[in-house]
Amino acid sequence: MSLPQLIMLPGPTNVSPRVYAAMCKPMINHRGAEFHQLHSRILENAKKVFQTENDLFVLTSSGTGGVECAASNFLLPGEKIVVPVGGTFGERLAEAFRTYGANVIPIEVRMGSAPTADQIREVLEREKDAKAVAVVYNETSTGTTVRDIQRIGEVAKASGALFIVDAISVLGGDDLPVDKWGIDVCITASQKCLATPPGLALISVSRDAWKLAERAKPRSEYFSLIKCRKFRDEKMETPFTPAVNLFFALDEALQMILEIGLERWIWRHKNASAAYYAAFGRMGLSLFAEEASRSTVVIAINMPQGITAKDFREKLRTKYGVVVAGGFGSLKDSIFRIGNMGIVTPREVLITISSIGAALDELGFKGRLGAGINAALPMVSEF
Ligand SMILES: Cc1ncc(COP(=O)(O)O)c(C=O)c1O
Repeated sequence: MSLPQLIMLPGPTNVSPRVYAAMCKPMINHRGAEFHQLHSRILENAKKVFQTENDLFVLTSSGTGGVECAASNFLLPGEKIVVPVGGTFGERLAEAFRTYGANVIPIEVRMGSAPTADQIREVLEREKDAKAVAVVYNETSTGTTVRDIQRIGEVAKASGALFIVDAISVLGGDDLPVDKWGIDVCITASQKCLATPPGLALISVSRDAWKLAERAKPRSEYFSLIKCRKFRDEKMETPFTPAVNLFFALDEALQMILEIGLERWIWRHKNASAAYYAAFGRMGLSLFAEEASRSTVVIAINMPQGITAKDFREKLRTKYGVVVAGGFGSLKDSIFRIGNMGIVTPREVLITISSIGAALDELGFKGRLGAGINAALPMVSEF
């Protein structure tokens, strides 16, 4: 019998046995008192993790459902939204708003770098009637985080635009105080830094966002926030059948995160990412994202010359049981990506670094694995 693989993907992530166990609890009535208690506790704890007093909803869908929810509730057809695009998820965010009829003003961002507040301000000065700005905080396809996010929020607010953030791959894995940073709509998903299996999206909604949502009938029946609010307020329920077992899982995972402490949970991601970056630098590997925008949760590494991502990932998985991701689109064969999300302990970090070093060595890249491990060790010794 072989051990489970180490899932070092940028989602889904490894899941704690405690969370798996919670999922196996017997079914309950999703229109009964037990669900009301469960739902209420999840909302309360999720708000702590979002650091928000705003309304928050859990949707039975993957993260894209959260994006569609944002795209279908706040803007009327033809209204303008500014969206920086520096990778696959920026493109998808823009496309979701286009699908629901918005007039998307894209800002092209070089892959591996991140948009700045000045770039957004420039566009907003031209597009004075823009109703919203939507940003992917962590571009999962390139391992790039928008470090100017707080200032972008200020710029959006100053021009009266709603500030929408796709934080699907990063909430819980880097700083993101939703209220302090003036984020009107923040979206995440269960299978990333919340260390829960895939299948749930979470979305927070500010008072300003409600003002836009209340102007018109939502264009999605399933993702109608007005309906979500009504069911929550009247019965602490969801409009449609929720994925009850995933709610059990999310409930347990949120409790686990809060027991460890949100600050410490985030710190582990930061520290582990520093360990990865130090180790890979020492091993002679080069990183895809520019240094100032490097992600704490997705480590994107250029494939050494002469080795294909496909061969490397296959060796890593079959021989070492470690699963990492390749690139998207034009980066398919040229980078590989490690998810540093959710369950982040010395075990994940050190096994991943050493397995990567060994697999690359077998494929002909003679990196200095020992130096890499030595660089990482002190950083993960205090988890
Ligand atoms: C930044 C970002 N946005 C959106 C998505 C889509 O989420 P899902 O695959 O859960 O629908 C992902 C998934 O990786 C993501 O990383």
